[in-house]
Amino acid sequence: MQTVVAPTDHPDRLKDAVSQAVDLLKRGECVALPTETVYGLAADAMNPEAVAKIFAAKERPAFDPLIVHLSHRDRLEEVAMVPEEIAKDVARITEHFWPGPLTLVLPKSAAVPDLVTSGLPTVAVRMSANPIFRRVVTSLAQPLAAPSANRFGRISPTSAAAVVKELDGRIPLIVDGGACHAGIESTIISITPRKEGKPLIRVLRAGPVTKEDLQPFGKVEFANHHTEAGEKPEVPGQMPSHYAPRTPLRLLEKPEDFQPEEGKRYALLSYRGGEEDGYLFLTDWLQSLTLSPGSGKLPEAAVRFFHCLRALDECGADEIVAEPLPERGMGVALMEKLRRAAAK
Ligand code: TXA
Ligand code: MG
Repeated sequence: MQTVVAPTDHPDRLKDAVSQAVDLLKRGECVALPTETVYGLAADAMNPEAVAKIFAAKERPAFDPLIVHLSHRDRLEEVAMVPEEIAKDVARITEHFWPGPLTLVLPKSAAVPDLVTSGLPTVAVRMSANPIFRRVVTSLAQPLAAPSANRFGRISPTSAAAVVKELDGRIPLIVDGGACHAGIESTIISITPRKEGKPLIRVLRAGPVTKEDLQPFGKVEFANHHTEAGEKPEVPGQMPSHYAPRTPLRLLEKPEDFQPEEGKRYALLSYRGGEEDGYLFLTDWLQSLTLSPGSGKLPEAAVRFFHCLRALDECGADEIVAEPLPERGMGVALMEKLRRAAAK
């Protein structure tokens, strides 16, 4: 299959790209689209045959459920059944965060094919803020199932060029919407009512919407991702070895712990690129990339995260050494991803 990359850098080209995408989606094909988090591989969520093509193109196991993207908040009830006890909370949360990088796990409606939710009784739902994505999902007038547009377990794409590297020849169209604004996948939460006061918000996947952002809406708690052998994971699809570059990656908590092996080529993923952090001159790095040069800003680090990881993966090093990031705000999600990438 030939993969076409459709540019959107002029109003005419944008219109053309959107109509190509909508035509393909109507015909039950899957298409890569930009979102504000990462590029997604989208298909009509209500068409199981179209959804099956997502799993095939990504080589994704059927037990890993997909996120459903809506054109508007008002359409939530088409895919989810919002329990009465949390209806007000869901309304407050979606009014505040949608469109945006927050995904809610809710009881599913019968209309959503089981393939989308991997047979679970719940569905993950969000509404993307990306204007191109919104145009496509609105013209299609159907919700879109869309996982990140990478092969299963690989680095998520934050540019059309990265999608080409992941899925060239496997899908008919990639809509090039430029770089993604948030750079990491949406925060996923579940909401449970409590006897008194605000509900319990469980963060199933840390992301751009932080604990601090969620606190006004409930008691926030991070889900446990560490499952013992044989235990069923609480969060499907959050495998230890996710987001993995092909090159081995080591999270180096303290620069003093580094003992380079003779003849081995190392690459550095630095947070701020500052000499005072103690990593910059540890060895003669084959390549070193900095997530947020200068004083270090976590949202900027997030935007560059997957792009830098991918570039280091391709630089020919034998090992990628990653500096730790401050574990607050968006740093929680970044550290989680680094730990997973290191856990091959
Ligand atoms: O930002 C994002 O969320 C991107 C863009 C494209 O929207 N999508 C994305 O999808 O990251 P994906 O497939 O890479 O991750 C979806 C994850 C699953 O691996 C699983 O952890 C969680 O969402 N998930 C989906 N349905 C769920 C459910 N019913 N219950 C719990 N977790 C669920
Ligand atoms: Mg993914």
